Amino acid sequence: MKRTRTVLVTGGAGGIGRAVARAFAARGDTVVVADRDAQRAMDTAHGLGVHGRILDITDEEAIASGLDAVQDEFGPIEVLVNNAGLLTVHGTLLELAGGDLDAILRTNVLGTFLMTQHTARRMVASGVAGSIVNLSSIGGRQPTPGMGGYESSKAAVDALTRWAAIELAPHGIRVNAVAPGPVLTETVSAGMPEGSPQRRAWEGRIPMQRFARVEDVAAAALFLAGDTAAHITGTSLPVDGGQLLT
Ligand SMILES: NC(=O)c1ccc[n+]([C@@H]2O[C@H](COP(=O)([O-])OP(=O)(O)OC[C@H]3O[C@@H](n4cnc5c(N)ncnc54)[C@H](O)[C@@H]3O)[C@@H](O)[C@H]2O)c1
Repeated sequence: MKRTRTVLVTGGAGGIGRAVARAFAARGDTVVVADRDAQRAMDTAHGLGVHGRILDITDEEAIASGLDAVQDEFGPIEVLVNNAGLLTVHGTLLELAGGDLDAILRTNVLGTFLMTQHTARRMVASGVAGSIVNLSSIGGRQPTPGMGGYESSKAAVDALTRWAAIELAPHGIRVNAVAPGPVLTETVSAGMPEGSPQRRAWEGRIPMQRFARVEDVAAAALFLAGDTAAHITGTSLPVDGGQLLT
């Protein structure tokens, strides 16, 4: 019989986060979507029939009080999906402003670290053998000109995944990442419409010749978080249609 878990999805009001929340909810889990965008967090929660919370993952005090409140209401968090990220700020090495790189790293690296640390502390204190899934990117392993700031942050997320995995294994807590190539969220679809030269050029880099659907990414997160992945920890699983092979 499936166990119902309390699952927290950061950035749960965004394109991938919403699909991840929907997948866990469909399994019967108690899902909390946490996002810094208050209106979209509440709209998403309402639309999916899950719970919504306002949370900025770069605000340590808000994380501590937010996690306590979730735990008080729904019991210990068993699954954390570190999905919130900043992926729209880009620039070449010669041009990217230092302040922009700082903002990328603050959300994608510091935010993911703080969420992992504060959630893992609570898992350890409650004796919960939980699971953490981070949203990385194959960009952390394969460069695309103009995207190096973002890609550096995702390489750090992969390192953070391995760091957390090796230190939390003695507590029975597993930590993995999903590393997509381009994913068909509303933002990506609007920026690269089907048939556009930019979209066709990128699809040409992908052996499976298409972008990932949000459901492809959600399925990988669900798998890594669950009992069928019980002996998998510290990995970053590409969901990229084979792009890393090229
Ligand atoms: N879309 C892609 O092609 C793609 C590819 C590889 C990896 N990813 C990763 O997947 C994750 C989700 O991406 P997406 O495409 O759904 O992005 P999105 O912009 O649609 O959603 C991101 C969500 O995170 C929230 N967020 C941003 N900063 C936050 C903060 N400080 N605190 C709380 N919430 C915050 C935003 O409000 C938004 O709802 C990101 O980590 C991204 O880097 C996306």
